[in-house]
Amino acid sequence: MTDLLNLRSAEMADAERLLEWRNDPTTREASHNQDVISLDVHIEWLSNSLNKPDQRQLWIAEIDGVAVGTCRADRVENAWELSWTVAPEVRGKGVAYQMLSKLVRSFDESLVAQVKADNFGSLKVAERVGFVLDKQEGSVLFYVYPKTSFIAG
Ligand SMILES: CC(C)(COP(=O)(O)OP(=O)(O)OC[C@H]1O[C@@H](n2cnc3c(N)ncnc32)[C@H](O)[C@@H]1OP(=O)(O)O)[C@@H](O)C(=O)NCCC(=O)NCCS
Repeated sequence: MTDLLNLRSAEMADAERLLEWRNDPTTREASHNQDVISLDVHIEWLSNSLNKPDQRQLWIAEIDGVAVGTCRADRVENAWELSWTVAPEVRGKGVAYQMLSKLVRSFDESLVAQVKADNFGSLKVAERVGFVLDKQEGSVLFYVYPKTSFIAG
């Protein structure tokens, strides 16, 4: 099942779909910044992001050539912080697990992730992929992906 999903780098042509997914109400609920983002601000953010691959990497997940989700890696101290969104129309079908399990296997550096404690679907996926709960601060769960998972996976 996982092998049916392809991860490719995001490009400017993905701007509209990425903005649509970002402004989706459920995505906003799961985000730290819950503001609706304007097209202008988004275009600038995407353009800057694509020009700094050492700081941020963005992928589009596709199944049979259809975009089904996105993953992001942000450079933080000594690690990459992963975040993810599944296209609203294909949620509830296991896409997040497919995307993330493929993505974590492609990294050989430390990974971390933050998930809101009430985002049950996302924390279930994170744990299934191999992330381990490190700590909780307020309503946010902080996950780490242990190095041993790279060896095992
Ligand atoms: C959260 C999200 C990534 C989940 O992706 P998905 O591919 O739709 O995940 P699925 O629903 O197929 O699988 C998640 C698992 O959690 C379970 N789940 C979903 N909602 C749940 C809930 N409210 N309570 C308990 N379990 C739940 C599902 O049943 C499934 O488990 P299963 O495979 O054992 O049945 C997706 O809904 C999304 O993009 N949401 C908006 C953005 C977001 O929250 N991003 C993550 C930020 S950390």
